[in-house]
Amino acid sequence: MIEKVAKQILESKYMTALTGAGISAESGIPTFRGEDGLWKKFKAEELATPSAFRENPELVWEWYKWRMEIVFNAKPNLAHNAFAELEKMGILKMLITQNVDDLHEKAGSKKVLHLHGSLRILRCTACKKRFEIDKPPIEKLPKCECGALLRPGVVWFGEEIPSEILREAIKHASMSDLMIVVGTSAVVQPAASLPLIVKKNKGLIIEINPEETPLTNIADISLRLKAGEAMDKLVKLIQEL
Ligand code: OAD
Repeated sequence: MIEKVAKQILESKYMTALTGAGISAESGIPTFRGEDGLWKKFKAEELATPSAFRENPELVWEWYKWRMEIVFNAKPNLAHNAFAELEKMGILKMLITQNVDDLHEKAGSKKVLHLHGSLRILRCTACKKRFEIDKPPIEKLPKCECGALLRPGVVWFGEEIPSEILREAIKHASMSDLMIVVGTSAVVQPAASLPLIVKKNKGLIIEINPEETPLTNIADISLRLKAGEAMDKLVKLIQEL
């Protein structure tokens, strides 16, 4: 099966990828859903919504600083490296990720669209100024130069993906004749609809996930493997062909 996928990738003209938290699981970053998922231990509505931040910014900041610590110390795994290699080989045209970690960039990927923002960015709640960080802020409540509260540069539940990012993602999905979907439960919209655009245009959908997802039904091939193992094998096969 994996050999077939390698051939399909080589034959594709415009390959894109959609990644989710599962691709970073082997780097030690917890996923959101499933047995050890963050949403089993924490309530999203108390931590990842605009109203949570209005009501208890200290608690929200505490949680994000904990996640920043994990993410900033994490290293890319074989799957992130494989995608960077596919981009270098000129095969992968755009990588669309729901992840707020920077492991794709750390692996060397350049063409990355972050649908849900990034933990590397802080944004002012008043003047909208953006700051790039490489370690968690030390203050309990980090403030902007203008005096207003800073917030993590991520998209919370109830917020929309910035329109220019979503437009780009839809554009690349529309151009794709093959999309590889790795490590996402495919339940959060609009990200989960991007593969449907590819399907509608008669493109191929390849899923890599140890578990079945709502996407499995429409995927042309589902590899029930971990991201690192599958992606590393795929790149090696492509290099041999
Ligand atoms: P989820 O946590 O919902 O799903 C992770 C998926 O990864 C599951 O389908 C797992 O089976 C799979 N998985 C686990 N380990 C894996 C491995 N080693 N290799 C491959 N797959 C593996 O994560 P997302 O789908 O990314 O939103 O979640 C989507 C969004 O929901 C996130 O971006 C976040 C969250 O709430 C926001 O923060 C706005």
